[in-house]
Amino acid sequence: MAAAEEKKRVFVKTYGCQMNVYDSERMTDALAADGYVPTQKVEEADLVLLNTCHIREKAAEKVYSELGRIRVMKEEAARAGRQVMVGVTGCVAQAEGAEIARRAPVVDLVVGPQSYQHLPRLLKDVAAGRRAIETEFAIAEKFDALPAATKAQTRARGVTAFLTIQEGCDKFCTFCVVPYTRGAEVSRPAGAIIEEARRLADAGVRELTLLGQNVNAWHGDGTDGRSWGLGELLYRLAEVPGLDRLRYTTSHPRDMDEALIAAHGDLPALMPYLHLPVQSGADRILAAMNRKHGADDYLRLTDRIRAARPDIALSSDFIVGFPGESDAEFEATMRLIETVGYAAAYSFKYSPRPGTPAALRDDMVEEAVMSERLQRLQALVAAQQTAFNRLAVGRVVDVLFEKPGRMAGQIMGRTPYLQAVAVEAGTERIGTIGRVAIDGLGTNSLFGTLAGAQPRPEALTAGNATAAETAP
Ligand code: 5AD
Ligand code: SF4
Repeated sequence: MAAAEEKKRVFVKTYGCQMNVYDSERMTDALAADGYVPTQKVEEADLVLLNTCHIREKAAEKVYSELGRIRVMKEEAARAGRQVMVGVTGCVAQAEGAEIARRAPVVDLVVGPQSYQHLPRLLKDVAAGRRAIETEFAIAEKFDALPAATKAQTRARGVTAFLTIQEGCDKFCTFCVVPYTRGAEVSRPAGAIIEEARRLADAGVRELTLLGQNVNAWHGDGTDGRSWGLGELLYRLAEVPGLDRLRYTTSHPRDMDEALIAAHGDLPALMPYLHLPVQSGADRILAAMNRKHGADDYLRLTDRIRAARPDIALSSDFIVGFPGESDAEFEATMRLIETVGYAAAYSFKYSPRPGTPAALRDDMVEEAVMSERLQRLQALVAAQQTAFNRLAVGRVVDVLFEKPGRMAGQIMGRTPYLQAVAVEAGTERIGTIGRVAIDGLGTNSLFGTLAGAQPRPEALTAGNATAAETAP
């Protein structure tokens, strides 16, 4: 047997969204208190956690095939006299529950996203030879009980950080599993969020991204006893010393209120990039998706946001081939994209998720039609993205340097518009914001040269330029 004081190693594989990244970090922090150190090598782990995603097709199948590989590894370790514990966490754990342990006996532990605070106790059950399955919803308790990262842990993660302020969703879009896997909307109190933000800033975090499945539905008791919305919270966070950049994701168009839009105009720390998914540009499809707004509502909203912050870069998610989507309805989505002009977008073929209303429909769009639509949509978005990135060439922008680049002597950072930039400079600049003259355009990043303090950074006015270039 290993000596009790010997370090145990945990390997965490994270699938899906940024909230899972944040949750994986919180779990790693909680396990650190139990003597676990993180490892990148699955074969040396004493505990393997798969933090899973259930949003689109085949997610569960991917997890099962990964578990097949892990089973072989676990058996080898057992022959060498070493116990390896295997856990499935995240949304597949929530959706499948005990079914996972039945289908994959290699799994010792199934924990849903709201129960991570119980991990240390559940691991003790497993070590004692009992399987542990926990998929209760108790998010308030989760955040109270999970330990905060230490300064050293935060420093090791770099100068950008995520902070979950809200979980769950009450919107019930008819294609989406989130309301079932993450449960009802719950907001963390402002005080706890501001405290966590201060700790992160103290440990060197310069850019904070607030996370929530429906982040702009956040509302909570403010530190002044009134109820706040996300706008008010952002004003407060902008006062935290050291936090130079704030972002939030993902937002629902219906929850963009006046205070939040005003914050985009007022707060220099609030970065001019907003992920605001619309999913479709056709009113009938938006209604069938239960999005609770039409295409025109969305266009008016983006106009208002741009009135507050003219250079804001917008991104969106799109689903092509929602059941019953006609050619004309797909064209309406293409027109909306042309009108808005996006700096980036994520697009997916519709995939039926068991348990969601849309999965019961019998008018699925043919696979070949979906593929063709996706290709056209992605080509349009790629052209807009390139046009947007090209706006930066020849200008000076502020870049937050985040990490060493791929090439020696290079560091990587991001512009306020979330564009990646590679610059020839020393790693001592990591964690600082520098002026960079953009002089080249790669496929996934911009190239730039340090510009010194003199030239003023310039705003990129994305929407106008791309809309003008692509308008019929
Ligand atoms: N099929 C395809 N795409 C989906 N998304 C969510 N559910 C589905 C589904 N059933 C996409 C949406 C959402 C993003 C996170 O994933 O576009 O905004
Ligand atoms: Fe899913 Fe987002 Fe709709 Fe909520 S708002 S149901 S998370 S797509």
